[in-house]
Amino acid sequence: MFYPAIRKVLFQFDAETIHELTIKSLKSTGSTPLNAFYKQRVTDKPVNVMGIEFPNPLGLAAGLDKNGECVDAFAAMGFGFVEIGTITPRPQPGNDKPRIFRLPEANAVINRMGFNNKGVDYLVSQVRSSKFKGVLGINIGKNKDTPDENAKDDYIHCMKKVYDFATYITVNISSPNTPGLRALQYGDALNELLSALKIEQAQLAKQYDKYVPIAVKIAPDLNEEEVQSIAKSLIDNNIDGVIATNTTLSREGVEGLEHGNEQGGLSGAPVKDKSTKVIRILAKALDNKLPIIGVGGIASSSDANEKLAAGASLVQIYTGFIYQGPSLIKEIVNGL
Ligand SMILES: Cc1cc2nc3c(=O)[nH]c(=O)nc-3n(C[C@H](O)[C@H](O)[C@H](O)COP(=O)(O)O)c2cc1C
Repeated sequence: MFYPAIRKVLFQFDAETIHELTIKSLKSTGSTPLNAFYKQRVTDKPVNVMGIEFPNPLGLAAGLDKNGECVDAFAAMGFGFVEIGTITPRPQPGNDKPRIFRLPEANAVINRMGFNNKGVDYLVSQVRSSKFKGVLGINIGKNKDTPDENAKDDYIHCMKKVYDFATYITVNISSPNTPGLRALQYGDALNELLSALKIEQAQLAKQYDKYVPIAVKIAPDLNEEEVQSIAKSLIDNNIDGVIATNTTLSREGVEGLEHGNEQGGLSGAPVKDKSTKVIRILAKALDNKLPIIGVGGIASSSDANEKLAAGASLVQIYTGFIYQGPSLIKEIVNGL
């Protein structure tokens, strides 16, 4: 593949400028013959998780295609599923720039995007116009200016809007860049949110005559008891799946590096073991009652296999994909 050469040029420029340029070009080529530049065939490795048939267990993690503009392009690259979002009810600009930083010495990224997105109605319009027929996860969140006590309303609003278009819905309560969001991972706040979402899911399942599973995405910065407590809430509320993990607030592994002290969530190699540890604790506590989607620092097929061995049924990548490009998809799927 020629991605290493392209990457050398891309990495000369500011990370977000390149991100926007990439999204624009993937959006305009995804369903045209120009997708030949990145289209590839990967081996079929079908797996059934949450009642859904996945062509292979590797997905694109949330946050790369926040507005669902490039689903056809990512599908052409061979991902077994694509997760779009995080999307919020209303469009919002996110935090001030710069807000994404590459740390190439550590194969890592720090971001404090803050759910910049064009709003749920725009995302739905994009999904409607895509040709994609595969597994589509839609990741939902809350607007920054929605008071914490009304967070539930934002999730329900998004859930209603995306229900008919999603193969599964991810409830993101683990971004470190929306103040108050991670508080939803604990105790009564979590149980109240999950039970409200299950009630809404039951109504929507009737209305659309189809059951769309709900997965909850959690942080790597949780101790053993906290993970066990989350696992209990997921089981008690009949949640369909859990995604572990989001980015970390820890700076272990990037101390002293350029940008190592930037605020935000750290992803890539330094989060790998933290995320695997959460998966291991979850797997024990969940006892196969619901499946785990493993994400965090996967940059090779052996990293992916490590997540599966820890108890994940599916895996996702983001930062590894930024560093290695589409060939990583093929390498991982072939090596599973
Ligand atoms: C720039 C950037 C933006 C992200 N945005 C989101 C997001 O909007 N929603 C979300 O659930 N996760 C988001 N993530 C987290 C990733 O989906 C993933 O959970 C995390 O980066 C760990 O995986 P990785 O090490 O393969 O990147 C983002 C990550 C990065 C690097």
